Amino acid sequence: MENRFSSNLLVMFFLPLLIQLCATSEYTRPSPRQLIFRAHNRSDSEPQQVHVSLAGNDYMRVSWITSDKHVKSIVEYGKSQGKYESSATGESSSYHYFFYSSGEIHHVKIGPLEPSTTYYYRCGGAGPEFSFRTPPSTFPIEFAVVGDLGQTEWTASTLEHVGLKDYDVFLLPGDLSYADSQQPLWDSFGRLVEPYASTRPWMVTEGNHEIESFPIIYPRGFKAYNARWLMPHQESGSKSNLYYSFDVAGTHIIMLGSYTDFDSDSDQYKWLQADLANVDRKKTPWVIVLLHAPWYNSNQAHRGEGESMRQAMEELLYKARVDVVFAGHVHAYERFTRVYDNNANSCGPVYITIGDGGNREGLAMK
Ligand SMILES: *[C@@H]1O[C@H](CO)[C@@H](O)[C@H](O)[C@H]1NC(C)=O
Ligand SMILES: [Fe+2]
Repeated sequence: MENRFSSNLLVMFFLPLLIQLCATSEYTRPSPRQLIFRAHNRSDSEPQQVHVSLAGNDYMRVSWITSDKHVKSIVEYGKSQGKYESSATGESSSYHYFFYSSGEIHHVKIGPLEPSTTYYYRCGGAGPEFSFRTPPSTFPIEFAVVGDLGQTEWTASTLEHVGLKDYDVFLLPGDLSYADSQQPLWDSFGRLVEPYASTRPWMVTEGNHEIESFPIIYPRGFKAYNARWLMPHQESGSKSNLYYSFDVAGTHIIMLGSYTDFDSDSDQYKWLQADLANVDRKKTPWVIVLLHAPWYNSNQAHRGEGESMRQAMEELLYKARVDVVFAGHVHAYERFTRVYDNNANSCGPVYITIGDGGNREGLAMK
């Protein structure tokens, strides 16, 4: 009886392992795939690049772009198709980057909205109807987390996989479009992600590919990113779109900025300290942090790039008992045990790198 039991155990545990080992030895890592360019194919007054994001408790922000500068920043919405009982107005702006001029970028905050509810909406009074589902107010909640997304055929494949899941909120720890100063690629990216980003809130933070700074002319960078991907920083007491936080269904999520100041005398540090002090674990038992350049990384790619930020901020996260830290930047998947100050520590966060979303640079293999 006992022998039978242990041989069953052997089969149960070692056979799958063996199969896995055989499979991994034959696995060849796929190479990068081609860029996808999505051209503008609606009329100039119709919305393009529609995406939605959480904007404070019970509110969502709808963002879109029109080529026509005179379209009003108005969102009409309601709980049944084609019937818009409510509407809200917001603001629009545009930006220049060398010889490029953006379309009119609209941001409209709508609500209060009910949890776990599908809303149908129309942007600027014309064009197609969109819909999104608000996140639940209590557990369970499902997140899709993807870093370093880009806009290649692999990106499309990643998004298709994400689209097959009934997730609630999309989280992106930096490196969105890989436009790298070629502004039309920001527009193409907006069109590529619209089918996903218009149906679920997309919450993003910045990566190095968002910087797009240029000496003297654009020294501070993030021009396109800040204009297009406005996140709820004001709603969370942050002075910068480069870091913020939000609550969703029992989870407090902190989006940190790897490419802005983080030392103990910086605005980001002071904001983080205050934000963590305000967390109520009874209301949000889970605390999750996202940032771009990983603090822990055994890959040869980008070694040590997150180190100064780790040294500046790790103690804050540790003392606040943050549960998980997601990073991108390294184009690979890696998960650490709970760590604090380079040692396994059962009170430290679990660190996960998920920077393999499908960008044009391919995978970090070493
Ligand atoms: C516009 O482009 C999208 C994405 O390629 C495509 O699905 C859609 O059918 C196009 N619409 C028109 C009117 O061509
Ligand atoms: Fe990166």
